[in-house]
Amino acid sequence: SSSADQLVIPTRSDSNKVAILTLNRPKALNALSTPLFKALNAELEKLEEDDGVRAIVITGGEKVFAAGADIKEMKDKEFAEAYTTNFLGSWNRLASIRKPIIGAVAGYALGGGCELAMLSDILICTPNAVFAQPEITLGIIPGMGGSQRLTSLVGKARAMDMVLTGRKIDGVTAERWGLVSRVTREGESVVQEAVKVAETVAGFGRVAVQAGKEAVNGSLDLPLEQGLRLERRLFQQLFATQDQKEGMSAFAEKRKPSWTNK
Ligand code: CAA
Repeated sequence: SSSADQLVIPTRSDSNKVAILTLNRPKALNALSTPLFKALNAELEKLEEDDGVRAIVITGGEKVFAAGADIKEMKDKEFAEAYTTNFLGSWNRLASIRKPIIGAVAGYALGGGCELAMLSDILICTPNAVFAQPEITLGIIPGMGGSQRLTSLVGKARAMDMVLTGRKIDGVTAERWGLVSRVTREGESVVQEAVKVAETVAGFGRVAVQAGKEAVNGSLDLPLEQGLRLERRLFQQLFATQDQKEGMSAFAEKRKPSWTNK
């Protein structure tokens, strides 16, 4: 099929180590319909199994990352159907991908779009990106982690303000609040920046990268004592890897490490 009717377009960086998934439903501002998230999950499953892929960039268009869940699809939904089909439940798949995910946001990241962006491990945006949880204006609340992940990222005061008023914030504010870690400069391509960051991550040993992701994510789920134990165990286990021997020998021998990913 031509890329015009693909809801998610998969491409690769020049090195082939970074996979780029572009949401492609421009007529509906990348509204996250059920077919769109099925397509996204299917691509993610493929990438998770592909040994050559070391990092994944998720992006949308230049003016819109994603305008949220598909309101027209949701409009006539009833409780029984939403509950028994576990509506929006499959979004959790993204949270369990082991490979690092870099989100690249230009333009609107609203509702489910903001929540999808927050599922990235590293999030980069343009200065004029727009983040909001406007669900309250539709008579609902966030359903893909907006009330939980947003609160752990920006704190209760700001999360409550966004969730109860639908307040929009720009990319510069998002960085100040800790929602994103990097903002591009005017005129820079957010996808190119994200690919650069992804290549950096992809250039390190994969076992340590996966452990780093697992440890940081552990801090969101676990009490401090258990989180510290998880970190210490992962840290200690890395001494069983060739990459730890290689990384430290290379430092001592003043040369570049050559990772074996084992
Ligand atoms: N669902 C379905 N269709 C959408 C959509 C959405 N979330 N967002 C935009 N569209 C559609 C519009 O209906 C319109 O379609 P038609 O051409 O067929 O009329 C098309 O995309 C273009 O949109 P607009 O004409 O509205 O474009 P605009 O530039 O005037 O406005 C906007 C852009 C401010 C983003 C506006 O489209 C908007 O407010 N969208 C809805 C944002 C929203 O409320 N998102 C939250 C959804 S709920 C949710 O996400 C729940 C959850 O937690 C998972």
